[in-house]
Amino acid sequence: MAEELIISQSASKTEKYESLIPQIEGLIYGETDLVANLANIASALKYGMDFFWVGFYLVKDDELVLGPFQGPIACTRIRKGKGVCGTTWEKAETIIVEDVDQFPGHIACSSDSKSEIVLPAFKNNEVFLLLDVDSTQIADFDETDKHFLSRIMKLIEGMV
Ligand code: SME
Repeated sequence: MAEELIISQSASKTEKYESLIPQIEGLIYGETDLVANLANIASALKYGMDFFWVGFYLVKDDELVLGPFQGPIACTRIRKGKGVCGTTWEKAETIIVEDVDQFPGHIACSSDSKSEIVLPAFKNNEVFLLLDVDSTQIADFDETDKHFLSRIMKLIEGMV
């Protein structure tokens, strides 16, 4: 396992993801523990992409429960259909929110968060966890983020 990530901070978003994803594959290679891998993925995304908050919510019974994350402290439990995360779980599809103040029911874990992307991962055709990434900039996430973060969700699905 590499000891540190190598990402050029002057690279474009696409270049950063293209450099980061093989490094994430290397980080999780040979490790079967889901929580350990989610923890390293959260760190790699936070520091590789310079995101404000990166974390996972895991489906446990009828709620989402906070999993490994990097960034300020966050809400621990979210019900289905609530906020961006609960809506992503309910709809079982990625949601990009350009301005969290315009998303009805958005759950503000931090008032510094301005935009957000949430992606689901599936096991037996059911959502079993979500990746949530927050930014302090309005409209910071787009189809490029969705494309590359979806590749990371496929890596996670391959672990379970
Ligand atoms: N904003 C999310 C809650 C999680 S925090 O952003 C870490 C939501 O509305 O579901």
